[in-house]
Amino acid sequence: MYTVDVLTLFPDSVMATLGESIIKRAANKRLVEVKAHQIRAFTENKQNQVDDYPYGGGRGCVMQAQPLADCLKHAESQRVGKLRKIYLSPAGKPFTEADAKRLSAEYDGLILVCGHYEGVDQRFIDACIDEEISLGDFVLTGGEIAAMAVADAVLRLVPGVLSDSECYEDESHWDGLLEYPQYSRPEEWEGRCVPEVLLRGDHAEVARWRKKQQLLRTRDRRPDMFSALTLSEEEKKLLHEAERDFLRDSLKSSALCRPMREDDIPDVIMIAESAKELLKSSGIDQWQEGYPNEASFRADIERGEAFVLTVSGKVSAFFSLCSGPDAAYADITDGKWSDDLPYLALHRIAVSAEYRGCGLADLIISSAENLAKEKGIKRLRGDTHKKNKAMQRLLARNGFRYRGNVLIRAGEGHDPRRMAYEKRIKD
Ligand SMILES: C[S@@+](CC[C@H](N)C(=O)[O-])C[C@H]1O[C@@H](n2cnc3c(N)ncnc32)[C@H](O)[C@@H]1O
Repeated sequence: MYTVDVLTLFPDSVMATLGESIIKRAANKRLVEVKAHQIRAFTENKQNQVDDYPYGGGRGCVMQAQPLADCLKHAESQRVGKLRKIYLSPAGKPFTEADAKRLSAEYDGLILVCGHYEGVDQRFIDACIDEEISLGDFVLTGGEIAAMAVADAVLRLVPGVLSDSECYEDESHWDGLLEYPQYSRPEEWEGRCVPEVLLRGDHAEVARWRKKQQLLRTRDRRPDMFSALTLSEEEKKLLHEAERDFLRDSLKSSALCRPMREDDIPDVIMIAESAKELLKSSGIDQWQEGYPNEASFRADIERGEAFVLTVSGKVSAFFSLCSGPDAAYADITDGKWSDDLPYLALHRIAVSAEYRGCGLADLIISSAENLAKEKGIKRLRGDTHKKNKAMQRLLARNGFRYRGNVLIRAGEGHDPRRMAYEKRIKD
């Protein structure tokens, strides 16, 4: 049985809290025992006075050593096992979950001394106390609230007090992280919904989401805790994913589509050059012969077919939306277009390196779709290299279907074959 003895001038208020709820049930099962001792009962004067003026002057009174020491001896004499004697003090070491774990694992009981007034005579601390614990960097009128907090945090870790060790192992501070956000019924409250992932019943996905939230919260709210962590490779990956998820959500509302202007060309060329590098390093023989370039962008601007996406006013992606018919699309092989309705062809798409993987490419597609709708056009077409899996995935997840193969104009030594895709735009 784990024991807690609180030395206090207010035993009733201590027991009113520690004699309730989970701790009370644990006491009923004889897993723990909490006692509050009235310090005043150990005074040797008629007035039961526990405090006196401070030597050296100054305001207020100091709790005297004798009643405290005698009260402590009394509490200690009733206990067996390894006890830790703690004085709750704003000058102590700030209490953490690690202290709660240590105190519950290494001792059979605690004796918690609550000061009042200006504090307690230092000689009592020097003679009788093992450690001083602070509840935080603020000053309370008495040690009771701090003692109750320490006792509660330690007692809940005593085996059997909570139904399962998972109850505390998942919580804030157990492994240096803050807890993920929690939700309960109903699914929607005052227009606020429970995150979708928590409703799908995919436990692995829920665990990944929760870990991401823990990492983000700890990083943003408690940089001190975050810098003390050594992240595993998996955690680093999850944090990166979480940052991308966050960026993706914020981009949905902040990215704007507008026609490309002449003064965008330097930014557009920079994005295009970086995209060419990426294609080259991925072994994709696309955009490897100087195209697209300043001349092609200028031509697109002149025809009113070039667009950019901006994030906070900065050009972050571009695309061209060209009126058909496109000569290269006339001769489709290994399949056919769904019909002969007028279409717009999506060409020359790229996203700046800063925003890759954040959903800007999906916003390009939805922007192109909106532009097509404005013109009353119901088909979008596009093509990509067979090795350009990222583009194929982008098209597929945005409702495009593979329709066959086309040949584009390509320089000598470059592969002209492209996979052709089409999307039927719904009204
Ligand atoms: C008003 S305080 C005394 C403060 C003391 N004169 C000082 O400045 O450090 C009275 C008692 O409240 C308790 N107490 C106050 N703040 C506390 C904290 N942050 N953590 C733990 N105990 C605290 C201590 O037991 C203390 O003896």
